[in-house]
Amino acid sequence: MTITIRQILPTFAGEATGIDLTQPLDAGAVAAIEAGMDRHAVLVFPNQPLTDDQQRAFTRNFGTLEQAPGGHVAKAHERRLPLDMQDASNLDKEQKVFARDDRRRMFNLGNRLWHSDSSYRAVPARYSLLSGRIVVDQGGHTEFADMRAAYDALDDATKAEIEDLVCEHSLMFSRGVLGFEIADAERAMFRPVRQRLVRAHPVTGRKSLFLSAHAGTIVGWPVPEARAFLRDLTEHATQPEFVYSHKWRQHDLVIWDNRQTMHRVTRFDETRPRDMRRTTVAGDAMTVAQAA
Ligand SMILES: [Fe+2]
Repeated sequence: MTITIRQILPTFAGEATGIDLTQPLDAGAVAAIEAGMDRHAVLVFPNQPLTDDQQRAFTRNFGTLEQAPGGHVAKAHERRLPLDMQDASNLDKEQKVFARDDRRRMFNLGNRLWHSDSSYRAVPARYSLLSGRIVVDQGGHTEFADMRAAYDALDDATKAEIEDLVCEHSLMFSRGVLGFEIADAERAMFRPVRQRLVRAHPVTGRKSLFLSAHAGTIVGWPVPEARAFLRDLTEHATQPEFVYSHKWRQHDLVIWDNRQTMHRVTRFDETRPRDMRRTTVAGDAMTVAQAA
């Protein structure tokens, strides 16, 4: 197998062909994908009809599968998928679409906000891998923003100001923006974690903005000032020149590097089933020490 990567946008995102992800990969193929990820930050693999186990096996080439506990208000017995697979669908266990006012659906609406997966965990995620099992033909795109290009485009004074800033991230912040009510019993699960605002890629050394809708405070700053600034930075980072919008075809597998990008899903007709399954490669380190 010879993997070919075609660059999609001038600065990031690539389409990878010439490889069958349902089969075990040799070390050379894995290295080629990692090199492609380091460079493009988002890779689209068209026509990869993966089973859940094949998706897990492919994901393990890049590290440990992140487990889902703490990431959702859905109860364990309500889950459609096991804990090592994140359910990005609009379906319940009976494969029926959620009612409009279903609390799980309302929680999932947070994915419409720009974010980096698991930035609310002390060790945030490395890659996310999303498989389009049932896609919709109107909307439901996944949009990606290149946080390296966004960092590069900042002026020098802003770069100096943010270099050592630390933010607190929590699902409470991203859901709070939408007016989602967190129950008292859920608050401990959503305890904020600290993340650097600027991080450097471990292989390329490129700096990027580590923004996310989960970021709600900057340590040492008044909260309204922090939120206004984070909003300014997010608006800057998600301008059209930094964004790739992916229109899904069935059996696309898309990988993104959460350390270098943000993403969001666009609105779609939620009376129609959309079955998207995500595996996540756990990160290997905190970006900054946590508060005692
Ligand atoms: Fe996400």
